[in-house]
Amino acid sequence: MDDTMNIYKEFFKLPGEYKAKFYSNDINKSCKIYSSSLSYDTDEVHYWRDTFTHRCHPLEEHIPSWPDKPTNYREVVSEYSIETRKLFNKILDMICKGLGLEKGYFEGELSKTHLISVNHHIPCPNPSLTLGMPVHSDPNLITMLQQGEVPGLQILKDGQWIGVKHIPHTLIVIPGLQLKVISNDRFMTPVHRVVTHPKEARTTIGVFLGPSPEFLIKPATALIHTEPVFRAFAYPEFLEAFVGLAKFDAQLALNHFRSKS
Ligand code: OGA
Ligand code: NI
Repeated sequence: MDDTMNIYKEFFKLPGEYKAKFYSNDINKSCKIYSSSLSYDTDEVHYWRDTFTHRCHPLEEHIPSWPDKPTNYREVVSEYSIETRKLFNKILDMICKGLGLEKGYFEGELSKTHLISVNHHIPCPNPSLTLGMPVHSDPNLITMLQQGEVPGLQILKDGQWIGVKHIPHTLIVIPGLQLKVISNDRFMTPVHRVVTHPKEARTTIGVFLGPSPEFLIKPATALIHTEPVFRAFAYPEFLEAFVGLAKFDAQLALNHFRSKS
């Protein structure tokens, strides 16, 4: 965990000329840095962050698109990808047990997309004017976050924003909206945001597991007692509603997928 965090801190310190080859706002590009400065003229709201993201599975397919700097990037992040995937599988197995689903229910298409997304926020001269990340819930299946020593993540509880402390060598696990759908509305998906820091740069590693684009997502049959709460849909349709129509508002997005009864 320390090695990976150090790699990302070093990565963001690399010269702009090196990082520039990863700058892109193309949603189809798998390995990229996107910065709010890239879409400054068209964004309705500007967030104080740069994000570096790439896919992690299957490794051999994606490694060639990863950075080759810092020199041990590929080695360290490969191991991190393998270990986080194993941990996801353990957590998902426990979730299956808790919900009463057969072991391995989430394996395969429901968890095919595995990506890393690292938020980097430089010190912000006036944190009251902007956020590091919007108020949102995670649209995917499940997320793990490794927060660096500079805090910033906040979670909404009973109408109040609560800061999530940095505890060394821990990962924060966030159930995503697909878990809510598949569990037929039994899972809570927390609303969260990131605030900026006036003096210190902040780096957080996010690891996201989500469905393959083709697969039809729906409440698990074993969890439907009377009616399914949500209708079936493919993930791209969900993302379109979540980002485009609902502007990251989970409840609004989910309303598009509630079964009509
Ligand atoms: C996210 C997220 C929090 C953070 O990437 O979805 O909520 O602390 N990140 O960077
Ligand atoms: Ni999030």
